[in-house]
Order: sequence, then structure tokens, then C-alpha cells
Amino acid sequence: MTACTSVVGLQWGDEAKGKIVDLLTPDHDLVVRYNGGPNAGHTVVCDGQSFKLSLIPTGILRPNVQAVVANGVVVYPPKFLEEGAGLRAKGIKVGNNLILSDQAHVIFPYHLEEESLREKAQGQSIGTTGRGIGPCYQEKVGRHLAIRVGELLDPDHLRRRLREIVPIKNRLLRGLSAETRSFDADSLSEEYAALGQQLRPHVADTVRLLHEAYARGRRILFEGAQGTLLDVDHGTFPFVTSSSSSTTGIWSGSGFPARRLTRIVGVIKAYSTRVGQGPFPTELHDAVGEHIRQTGKEYGTVTGRPRRCGWFDAVAVRHAVMVSGADELAIMLLDVLSDLDEIRICTAYQYEGCRTEHFPPFAHQLERCKPIYETLPGWKCDISGCRSLEQLPAAARTYLERIQTLLGLPIRIVSIGPDREQTIFC
Ligand code: IMO
Ligand code: MG
Repeated sequence: MTACTSVVGLQWGDEAKGKIVDLLTPDHDLVVRYNGGPNAGHTVVCDGQSFKLSLIPTGILRPNVQAVVANGVVVYPPKFLEEGAGLRAKGIKVGNNLILSDQAHVIFPYHLEEESLREKAQGQSIGTTGRGIGPCYQEKVGRHLAIRVGELLDPDHLRRRLREIVPIKNRLLRGLSAETRSFDADSLSEEYAALGQQLRPHVADTVRLLHEAYARGRRILFEGAQGTLLDVDHGTFPFVTSSSSSTTGIWSGSGFPARRLTRIVGVIKAYSTRVGQGPFPTELHDAVGEHIRQTGKEYGTVTGRPRRCGWFDAVAVRHAVMVSGADELAIMLLDVLSDLDEIRICTAYQYEGCRTEHFPPFAHQLERCKPIYETLPGWKCDISGCRSLEQLPAAARTYLERIQTLLGLPIRIVSIGPDREQTIFC
């Protein structure tokens, strides 16, 4: 069977998926982004050089790999082009190896404005990345005001569409705030038609491309953005992103039948982090939380915001394993815990006086869950040079075994540093 792999986050994003995608890419011919947009921040370190990718699939860094941005992604054209140019400047080939779906939806400046006004105006801020993700996906499911990449390639059509859309958006924005910027349809259509011409060499029907590649025996890797707990249906709603960021997004977000996946790698951090608002039962507000933040450099790749840090939450991740159908685990940033005297794992919650091992579907319920911890001894030594499980201290192995047991899945990859070499394959 042709290898079709999914790499998916099992927490609230930032699980270091980029490193795993990069490590698995040599066994694949295509790397496909199917959800999210410039809210993602995937970092890959190779030969001491660090690459930060947001819209472009991590596969672009490897020669002879096709990087595909499929229909489920929302694209901000200036960012897409800027990222491509940045990669070229670092000596990476960005040409016909980068394909963008003509059906992906386009983020316009009025989406950024709308998001900024909504985040300020509403009582309940989500703490988004401010990249226009929510408003663009809203337009997609709302249908009337949406524009897809393929429409940028026809300037007359684009002008007609924007002359219909922009006055409506201006009225909606004024309804949100009198302080809003106002947009001009004709100058936007000129600007976006020009961007469309720059995108043109990359634009294709990626559904057909994926199916033709599969028929020729090409191996496909799906690079999930965000994480399962940020999935619009299965995450901690409404404190989620606006796309299907679990594996459920693969089928709709790429048109490739997810039943052909042969391997689903769930990526977890050895602890938990989240950015923005939303419930986080194991969050640490103490010196240990700060230690994890500093040691793990837990600051957002996209926005620079300090990430909230806490202990590993097996209840939340078990839910994510179930939804995303993970069949193996990659555990990341284990080295960040090396200085701690003891390490905790949340194995259940206390909710309204009862113990539960189930992840509640409502954010206000999760808000009231108190973690029940198991405490394990720390290993208190540098593990970043270890290259096999045997080289890891016994306490670190015990921690990994406990996580495997709690999640009912094998750990196949352990990461003990950002570099490609700092990896243990089990
Ligand atoms: P990667 O791919 C971590 C979070 C935001 C916010 C919520 C909604 O790097 O793992 P959005 O801008 O998507 O509407 O914000 O989702 N968020 C992420 N957190 N990693 C990400 O991506 C994220 N993308 C969005 O912080 O809480
Ligand atoms: Mg991120």
C-alpha cells in the first residue's frame, strides 16, 4: 500500500509538528497543508539554520518534494509570496515544487480589520493570531462574500465581485465600530489582481493533482496546522480556530479520502501549552510554569505572545487521540523538563465533586475541572545528547512509559532538542 501519512497535533497547537513533518518528508513525495492559514508557525532547524514556515508546507525544504497548499487552507497572498521570497533568499527552491489550490479561500485586508474590531468589541475575546482566519472561513461557509484563489486570476471577474462585496463589508465594519477603516473596491481589485498574477505559476487544481499523484504511487504526507484541541468541532469551542485542525479536516480540506491514510502520527509536547484565551486545566501560574516557558522558549512563532504553560494533560490528549485516530505518538521537547525535581501528569479531572476521565464538550465545564495528578520523579540531567532510549535516564523512560500507557499508544519518536539529529526513533 502506498504510504499516506498524517502528522497532527494532539494539543492546542505548537507541538513542534514542523520538526516531525521534516523528519518524515524523505519518505514522501508530496507534503500537503489542508487547514488553517498564516496562523500556523512551523519551525524547522537544519544544519543550524532555522526556518519558520506559516503558509508554505514544511516539505518545501527538501529537494524533489512537492509542497501543496490544498483547498481547505485560507491564504493571505502577500504573506504567501513574502514567505516564498524569504525561502528563496535562503537558497531554497520555490518554483513549480510549490502548488496552491485554485479553490483555497483568500484573506483580504477587510478580514484583518473585522477580526481586530471583533476581538476588541466583544466581551469574549478568543485571543486569535489576528491573521483574518476566522472572518475568512466565516465568508467561506456564509458563501455570499467569499473569493477563492482561482478568482484572482480573472481581473474583470474579480473587480465585479469586489464591487459587490466591499460595500457590504464596509457597512458591516461600520456596524462593528465607527472607528473602522473603509475599503475601496477598485484599488483592492487592482492590488489583488496583481497578486494573482504573481501566484499564477503556483495555482492548480490540487484535488486532481493529489489523486493523479496517488495513482502513480506517490507517497503523500499531510501536515496538520494547529492541533486537535483547537478543532472548530472537536476542540475547546469557542476557544478554537475556525478550521478542522484534527485529521477530520484532511478529507474536506484536500479532497483526498482520509481512509487511504496508512499512518497517523499524533504529535504531543511532553507538557502542555496554549496561546490565547480558553480553559486549560493544568496551567501553571508559578515558577515551574515560568521555567518551562523560558527553557522551552515558549513564545508564539506568529505573534510573539508568551505561551501559557502547564503539565501534560492525559485526559485532553486522550480525547484528541480518539478524534484524530492517532495510531502512534511523537513526543517533543522532553529535554525541557530535565531540570525539574518532579513531573506531574494529569490523569483525570475532578468535576462537580466527581472524578472523570472524560473530556467535557463545553469550555465552561472544562473551566471548572480540577486536574488530578500523578507525580513522577524528574531525571535532573541533560538528555539532549541521548540518541537511543537506552541512553535516557530511567526516570525519563518511566515518564514515557506512563504516557504510553495512559494514551494506549506507542511512542515512536522522542525529540530531545530542535535539531534533526536530536531525535530518538523507538
Ligand atoms: P501551529 O500550526 C498555537 C490559536 C490562537 C487562538 C486560537 C484562534 O503553529 O500549531 P486563530 O487566529 O486561528 O483564529 O486563533 O487558535 N492558534 C494557535 N495556537 N499554534 C497554532 O498553530 C495556532 N493557530 C491558532 O492562539 O487561541
Ligand atoms: Mg504556532
